[in-house]
Amino acid sequence: MVVLVSGSGTNLQALLDAVEAGGVEGYGARIVAVGADRAGIEGLARAERAGIPTFVRRVPEYASRAEWDLALTEATAAYEPDLVVSAGFMKIVGQEFLARFGGRLINTHPALLPSFPGAHGVRDALAYGAKVTGCTVHFVDEGVDTGPVIAQGVVEILDEDHNDGGAALHERIKEVERRLLVDVVGRLSRDGYRIEGRKVRLRDE
Ligand code: GAR
Repeated sequence: MVVLVSGSGTNLQALLDAVEAGGVEGYGARIVAVGADRAGIEGLARAERAGIPTFVRRVPEYASRAEWDLALTEATAAYEPDLVVSAGFMKIVGQEFLARFGGRLINTHPALLPSFPGAHGVRDALAYGAKVTGCTVHFVDEGVDTGPVIAQGVVEILDEDHNDGGAALHERIKEVERRLLVDVVGRLSRDGYRIEGRKVRLRDE
């Protein structure tokens, strides 16, 4: 798989650790490259420490969003991944990327979709006054966080979560999210899957 990141990369680290612990045979997948939309982030440093190739494609370096999308597509395709994992990648990919990787591009989102899509899933759930939130691993389609759901994890919102703008809540979500993502990627890779409309079927379902 190729993993795309924009920040701290703790979800990437969980995948790196799972591959390391299980081996490619045991876990079912390995990371062939890590891509980012910005330089100097911990996510890239994690990849470099693990000896995994990295690439950066920054939107401002291209004349248009479509040109950036094409560059990201080509950089990713160079590694011939079977699966692409958007793990804290804070950009919406475009038509070119979807045409190339649709049906094998997954994203992890810090809310229970279809509630609270977009870039502020944690903050939006808190502001709404929701009592539970969580995380969703889903296939990516043309919409923003609208693709078929693969798995979700639930996290309770506590009264004190309103005191720090959601930082502690996001950390609790990320603990659940990392386990969920590792589990989903392993199962998709080992067992195979098919997407039937909005239903994602793993081999044992
Ligand atoms: C994760 O919680 C992920 O769901 C979220 O960014 C965090 C990345 O953490 N993504 C989004 O909000 C996408 N809309 P990490 O860099 O430590 O893996």
